[in-house]
Amino acid sequence: MLNSTAAENRFAVVILAAGKGTRLKSRHPKVLHKIAGRTLLEHVIAATSHLVPARDTFVVIGHEAERVRAAVESTGVNFVEQPQQRGTGDAMKCAQPALRGYEHAIVLMGDAPLIRPETLQRLREFHLQQQADITILTAEPEDPTGYGRIVRKMVGGRPSASVAAIVEQKMLSAAQMSLREINSGIYGFRLSTLFQHIGRLTDQNAAGEFYLTDMAAIVGEAGGNVVALPAATATEVLGINSRMELAQLDAAARARICAALMNSGVTIYRPETTVIDADVTVGTDTIIEPFVQLVRGSRIGADCHIQSYCVISNSQVADGVAIRPGCVITDSVVGAAATLGPYSHLRPGSEIGEGAHVGNFVETKKVRLGAGAKANHLTYLGDAEIGARVNVGAGTITCNYDGVHKHETVIEEGAFIGSDSTLVAPVRIGAGAYIGAASCITENVPPDALAVGRGRQITKPGWAAARRAQRNKSG
Ligand code: UD1
Ligand code: CA
Repeated sequence: MLNSTAAENRFAVVILAAGKGTRLKSRHPKVLHKIAGRTLLEHVIAATSHLVPARDTFVVIGHEAERVRAAVESTGVNFVEQPQQRGTGDAMKCAQPALRGYEHAIVLMGDAPLIRPETLQRLREFHLQQQADITILTAEPEDPTGYGRIVRKMVGGRPSASVAAIVEQKMLSAAQMSLREINSGIYGFRLSTLFQHIGRLTDQNAAGEFYLTDMAAIVGEAGGNVVALPAATATEVLGINSRMELAQLDAAARARICAALMNSGVTIYRPETTVIDADVTVGTDTIIEPFVQLVRGSRIGADCHIQSYCVISNSQVADGVAIRPGCVITDSVVGAAATLGPYSHLRPGSEIGEGAHVGNFVETKKVRLGAGAKANHLTYLGDAEIGARVNVGAGTITCNYDGVHKHETVIEEGAFIGSDSTLVAPVRIGAGAYIGAASCITENVPPDALAVGRGRQITKPGWAAARRAQRNKSG
């Protein structure tokens, strides 16, 4: 263990999120763009939440500060304003008053969302163990272009553990172009040292900004201890500066989510095509076919089978549900062992009972379909309460809207609705009642009754033959 007390080591977390993100060419602040269904900033806050409590976390905001604040306020973190975005060094200067009383800070960039909690833990421990003034988390990605490069101190002609400087891409000399080790933008700082020297930063560089990265050389030259800690993998430190990188990191985040699900017992046949948000859960032995999206906190049970091209959003699916191709399920609840699709559309407020069937081209909205009920083909069910074991024939429509108001249809348990029926709400079909095919039902039907509401069929024997004969004669 470390030989100093927790109080002496008081750590803050600082997340820099004030920049505009010019390279994204967006009307929205960069840190509010999303990967894996969560904003970049939420990912970073979540990764630091085991390191320090939210009250010791400070997010530096500036560009569109109020929008950024509103987006993550519920996490309980603190905010520091950077009035003008004059660089990452200036952002830390703005945080100085808020950091009084802390000995160290872990500093992160709001646009590097894949950092893992384990790595931050290791960074904190290494920083303390090295008694460092600055610890820089580094990596060697395949393509280091765009990142600050680490210049190690040479000892006896070989690079040492100490860092001499961080050189930004725009400032690299020809010789430095070959440096492969990058600055992740994630650091441990001893705050007394940082703030003792931060006044020496200048904006005399290619971007005209105060670079926090210049602190490495400043503190090193002043006799401070500046060290590097290589991250286990490069992917987790990558930042997002362009839409291309947004797509790449989204794919990386989703691959990580799929890997975790597969490790927990979910079958995913083509994970590279599967889009699952960070806040989604899936039970064991569920099978996910290619090109499925599970988003916005959906909770999928065990032993389900979700076939291709389904999009399930903010919905709960119980165990053993079969979802055939092409279903869209939004803000809905599906009971155990139900069968959906192909091509069912469950709109908000659909509650599908246990063992119920919803089939081809059936649209539901604000509807409760009882256990074992069936609506298998070409049907619209809206604003309806449908009992257990009801059979809804093909082409049935609940006429729930009179142009001004929505009205409710109630179909009690065990009723049978013949194909091509229109049920004009408000209307109630009693338990066990029978509606003849192609009926237009405008009045309540008592339990166990038969209701038929359609024009009567007229059949005229020989009529067609007579007409043909007539035509032939006159022609
Ligand atoms: C920065 C580092 C670079 C590192 C890279 C890692 C500097 C000078 N460079 O470069 O060495 O390799 O991150 O991803 O630090 N921000 C503010 N206020 C500002 C400017 C920026 O809060 O005035 C925030 C941004 O919102 C962003 C983060 O700081 O979240 C990084 O800024 P960005 O401009 O993206 O820095 P990089 O050029 O990527
Ligand atoms: Ca960046």
